[in-house]
Amino acid sequence: MQQRWSAMDAYIEAHLLPEDPTLQQAFQNTEAHGLPGHLAVAPNQGMLLQMLIQMNRCKRVLELGTFTAYSTLWLARALPQDGYILTIEARDIHAVRAQENIDQAGLPQTIELKVGRATEILKSLPPGFEPFDFIFIDADKQSYPEYLELCLNFSHSGTVIVLDNVIRAGDILNAENHKPSIEGIRTMYRLMQNHPRLLSSTALQTVGSKGHDGFAIAIVK
Ligand SMILES: C[S@@+](CC[C@H](N)C(=O)[O-])C[C@H]1O[C@@H](n2cnc3c(N)ncnc32)[C@H](O)[C@@H]1O
Repeated sequence: MQQRWSAMDAYIEAHLLPEDPTLQQAFQNTEAHGLPGHLAVAPNQGMLLQMLIQMNRCKRVLELGTFTAYSTLWLARALPQDGYILTIEARDIHAVRAQENIDQAGLPQTIELKVGRATEILKSLPPGFEPFDFIFIDADKQSYPEYLELCLNFSHSGTVIVLDNVIRAGDILNAENHKPSIEGIRTMYRLMQNHPRLLSSTALQTVGSKGHDGFAIAIVK
């Protein structure tokens, strides 16, 4: 099935996603430096993130897990020119390429890359830090419950939160699987269930070039 899913993604891309030299350059730069391009969102997923931002007329975005800034560029391009993104990446070798890709893209929006562990950076933001309109969580999966709670401190009513890779080919259902990443996602589901600060939440399974996975989406009350 993987071959069919990838071919279908290629078909969608050819029809609906115009070639973009900035994004292609970022992706090529990632692979040229021996970094695993498959960690980045697929183009049709990047477009979905972009559309969620456009739908909600967001101006301020937070991203946890920059990798080499491929998704960051999708997020940034959805914003008005005075838009702002704070993106956080723990690994220096990823952050170096991310900054290079951000600089090369030369977008008018402000993209601030902070290097360090996402929990520590979020905890170090000053009280009263202006909340975000859209939050994309795509860093280590074991920390998703903590990320969700911390992100709520930087949200307002209507903030949209998207968490990537919450299906893991159905491994969430495998009771024998106690990997920290899987346990982290299970705890995230329990936390989202009837969370007093969330208006609504769901998760969507996807298949495509990234296999069988999916997103969770929540709106802050
Ligand atoms: C799946 S990749 C992100 C892909 C990126 N969002 C994209 O679509 O192009 C996950 C990234 O999170 C980073 N990461 C892992 N643990 C982290 C942490 N504690 N804080 C911040 N970033 C972390 C990894 O180094 C990796 O670059």
